Amino acid sequence: CGIVGYVGAQQPSSRPLDVVMEGLRRLEYRGYDSAGVAVVTGPGGELATAKKAGKLVNLVDELAAHPLPAATAAIGHTRWATHGAPNDVNAHPHVAGPIAVIHNGIVENFAVLKAELTAAGATFLSETDTEVAAHLLAREYADCHDLSTAMCAVARRLRGTFTLLAVHADVPDVVVGARHDSPLVVGIGVGETFLGSDVAAFIAHTREALELGQDQVVTITPDGATVTDFDGEPAAARRFTVDWDAAAAEKGGFASFMDKEIHDQPQAVTDTLLGRTDIAGHLVLDDLRIDESVLRSVDKIVVIACGTAAYAGHVAKYAIEHWCRIPVEVELAHEFRYRDPVVNERTLVVAISQSGETMDTLMAVRHAREQGAKVLAICNTHGSTIPRESDAVLYTHAGPEIAVASTKAFLAQITATYVLGLYLAQLRGNLFPDEITEIFDQLRAMPDKIQIVLDRSDEVRKTAQDMVDTTSVLFLGRHVGFPVALEGALKLKELAYIHAEGFAAGELKHGPIALIEEGQAAFVIVPSPRGRHSLHSKVISNIQEIRARGARTLVIAEDGDDAVAPFADVVFSVPRCPTLLAPLLTVVPLQIFACELATVRGLDVDQPRNLAKSVTVE
Ligand code: G6P
Repeated sequence: CGIVGYVGAQQPSSRPLDVVMEGLRRLEYRGYDSAGVAVVTGPGGELATAKKAGKLVNLVDELAAHPLPAATAAIGHTRWATHGAPNDVNAHPHVAGPIAVIHNGIVENFAVLKAELTAAGATFLSETDTEVAAHLLAREYADCHDLSTAMCAVARRLRGTFTLLAVHADVPDVVVGARHDSPLVVGIGVGETFLGSDVAAFIAHTREALELGQDQVVTITPDGATVTDFDGEPAAARRFTVDWDAAAAEKGGFASFMDKEIHDQPQAVTDTLLGRTDIAGHLVLDDLRIDESVLRSVDKIVVIACGTAAYAGHVAKYAIEHWCRIPVEVELAHEFRYRDPVVNERTLVVAISQSGETMDTLMAVRHAREQGAKVLAICNTHGSTIPRESDAVLYTHAGPEIAVASTKAFLAQITATYVLGLYLAQLRGNLFPDEITEIFDQLRAMPDKIQIVLDRSDEVRKTAQDMVDTTSVLFLGRHVGFPVALEGALKLKELAYIHAEGFAAGELKHGPIALIEEGQAAFVIVPSPRGRHSLHSKVISNIQEIRARGARTLVIAEDGDDAVAPFADVVFSVPRCPTLLAPLLTVVPLQIFACELATVRGLDVDQPRNLAKSVTVE
């Protein structure tokens, strides 16, 4: 879910609501089942709310039809439903008397609390777990008459995960927030203060931010923020300056955020490589806070991640094992956590997450650290939870990724794992310095090559347009082409809702070939013919095998690879590059294909049905 809060000194005015609606627009990617706002007017104190099922535009229409009064403070929410259907009543805010509350997360003990509150006379309107927090807060406030103290008391009673924001009609220049295992950041302006699930909520107004810690309550007024723990004791919050500018979170002339973010990819890779070498050309990772001696003694790496980030981990396995000779396991974070994995002090766990908030990944991070492993986060979002709870962080610099399905963050994640692999190889002496320099130079040449792939996108788009009625597409690849095939299939499922599956091409003959029938479309990612142990000829054989059975073959191959042409219905050529780096190029036509096919089918590529960008529940 997306959460925004605001208080300002220009009282009362339309600004609080404007800021919150603008913040919700920027956070809509976090959830779009329903949206709502609450405003408080002062002095004199009046609370008013509006909420609507469906996308934010429905709330905009509602506010135009029934305007809210000028306000001093406001809170707003876009929802990704967990408890209760996405309808008007279940949308946030939830109101109890003079209090309005919005919530991200799950209150696990809500049934017990609801029974207790009902017995005490509370009446519930919705099916949500959030409403118990509203009633509980109203009851606590009635006892202590202080919103922050009441919020502490509520936070101590809730089990599960939550970010809660509340306003009270009696204190019109205050918004109080609490967080436990769910994100919340503070924006510090001049005479105004902001809260948001992430900095995108307030980046148009201020870049000065406070990163809250776990189990903290924050009280914002026009003059700033006060932070305590759940017992009301003063607590520290780290101040930081956001390095994104607001324009980075705009579409900039593209039809969709997805289209823009696909085109941002050369820059995302460039920026992720910036500042990683010293004058002598040695790799330096300044933000890595793990002792070099610990990194030298690592005997196993486990990559944990979900979704697209997990496929970046699969690519990393090929590169890191080859360069560093350290075994690398890659596991979905939600599977890792619950199977008693073998990790210890000599294990380096690499947690990859664009948002830094994915609950499955966060839980896996905590489990790994409990077992004594060091955890390195590869993350795109400053101020998020996973880097803060990890031993070290390597930031990807992809800029804000707004489209729900990941594209530029994926390329930046792969790039960051290459940097990590080369750094470990340097530290442990697995590669000669000039080998590292050569690979790093090749890496630096990749953004221009990605640009070439983007410049050639017309043929991919045309192919997608011609396939508007297709019902199933297969994706085949070997070696680093295998995770690319998986990611190509995922993109198509997410964006176009078309059945798609990725396979290791070598596995074809062990089962999937039974799916091939006349006209079945299959993308095949062909490795370079130049490698010493090239799999090229084996993949060419795979193409022949499926073509002989009627498949329509859509082949991604290196420039100058003439051997594929006789067996391909269409060839999408990408520039030459070292085999291990090729995923940065070969995945791009697959992203464009999925985006275009979804677009011609009339779908919303930025906000696919049922998905959320940051899945902050397990
Ligand atoms: C969600 C998104 C995916 C994303 C995954 C992991 O499921 O819809 O696009 O790959 O989460 O997100 P993270 O922020 O941890 O990289």
